[in-house]
Amino acid sequence: MNRQSWRTRFGFYILAMGSAFGLGNIWRFPYIVGENGGGAFVLLYVLLSMTVGLTLLIAELMFGQATRKSVVMATAQLFPHRAQWSRVLSYFPLVLSLVVLSYYSVITGWVLHFMSQFAVYFISKPDYTQGSLSVLMKSGGLQWGLASVHILISMVIAIKGLQDGVERWIGWLMPFFTVIVLSLIYQSISMTETADVLRVLFYPDFSKLTMGSLNHAIGHVFFTLSVGFGTLITFGSYIKADQHVPTLGFRVTLFDMIVSMASLLLVLPLAMQASSRPLTDPALLFDVLPRFFIEIPGGVVFGFGFFLCLYLAALNASLGLFETIVSNLVDSIKGLSRTSAAWIVGVLCLSLTIVPSLASSFFSETRLIGAKSMLELIDSFLINWFLPFVALGSLYLFDRGLAEKEKRKHFVSSSALASHAMYPYWLFSLRWIVPGVILLGWVLQIINFIKSE
Ligand code: PFF
Repeated sequence: MNRQSWRTRFGFYILAMGSAFGLGNIWRFPYIVGENGGGAFVLLYVLLSMTVGLTLLIAELMFGQATRKSVVMATAQLFPHRAQWSRVLSYFPLVLSLVVLSYYSVITGWVLHFMSQFAVYFISKPDYTQGSLSVLMKSGGLQWGLASVHILISMVIAIKGLQDGVERWIGWLMPFFTVIVLSLIYQSISMTETADVLRVLFYPDFSKLTMGSLNHAIGHVFFTLSVGFGTLITFGSYIKADQHVPTLGFRVTLFDMIVSMASLLLVLPLAMQASSRPLTDPALLFDVLPRFFIEIPGGVVFGFGFFLCLYLAALNASLGLFETIVSNLVDSIKGLSRTSAAWIVGVLCLSLTIVPSLASSFFSETRLIGAKSMLELIDSFLINWFLPFVALGSLYLFDRGLAEKEKRKHFVSSSALASHAMYPYWLFSLRWIVPGVILLGWVLQIINFIKSE
């Protein structure tokens, strides 16, 4: 199957940045930083993004660019006579994408809830109470219903083949989101004791790191950059042969880091000033921001605009996941139509969503394997364990599948002067640093768990 290439590099940026930018930056990053003690963790995150994260991001894009296929077909082409387990490995990104999509949909449902709250408030101005978040948390049915709406929207877009248009359209809207967020940061910082906040965020106090922090940082870096899900391999398959993947990858990583920093500056100052919840609570964003919107002038419009843009960003990211699973299924199962594949993915996802939807209601008292809640358990299993494991598998497929000559050809470019010198470092990082850091993160996490038992 021959692929069309994007006519412009800009098309690539819109899609890759759209997939990277999402709830991971705005919702997850602030409370993960809170959980791991602030500045030192931020520093660890920046270091790992630019080393481990960027190394794998480049590898995945290159895998796609070199094979011009998505992950399952690329593996089938590169390992025709190898043991069946290479093939099995290539299905892991799909399983990961499916489970993460279900979990992601629940949080996207929370965004939909607040978006509609602000729309109602805007139209009829009822007495806005802070009860909105607790109503949501107590109702598993409401959470599942909202997540289902989101999954159905994604499914319809995938069946109609509209994702390209929708993704581009959302990409164009994102500058507006940037303006909203920047003006909110300005207001948020001017309402708080700036020096205190900046000290917590950017002064690296290493004694606050725990043995689990390395593992948390790696998982978050992969999640926020969308590494390990197979999505970047598909994106890479559309990149023209003469475009320089390391440069594209570097820009996407930098962009994602800047967005994450901006969201820290927005959420944490407010949370430190006036949140009824600990900084480590997954519902932090949804507690802090609505309160803030009610207080500032024009806050209802800001509130609605913010949650609408956040919803669109989450939709964009979800479409990347949905499309990865659907297109790989269609490529690998003979006779399966796009519509049937989208239905299968949609129905599986709706069923899997039930458990995380009930985490804060039905399962609110359930504490397993040291986790504070069911949501935390699912999050930790998926992002700190399963995701790095799948990323290691993709790394293996990539490194064994593509010959050294081929890797060098895609990495070294006459238009990027440093690329020649950087190539051996990248390869070293891919073969030794990435697996080494992932393994070390797991070992420290296990020791941490045993000590705390
Ligand atoms: N990177 C997205 C975020 O930070 O919200 C999550 C994500 C989207 C992961 C798409 C994987 C993916 F394929």
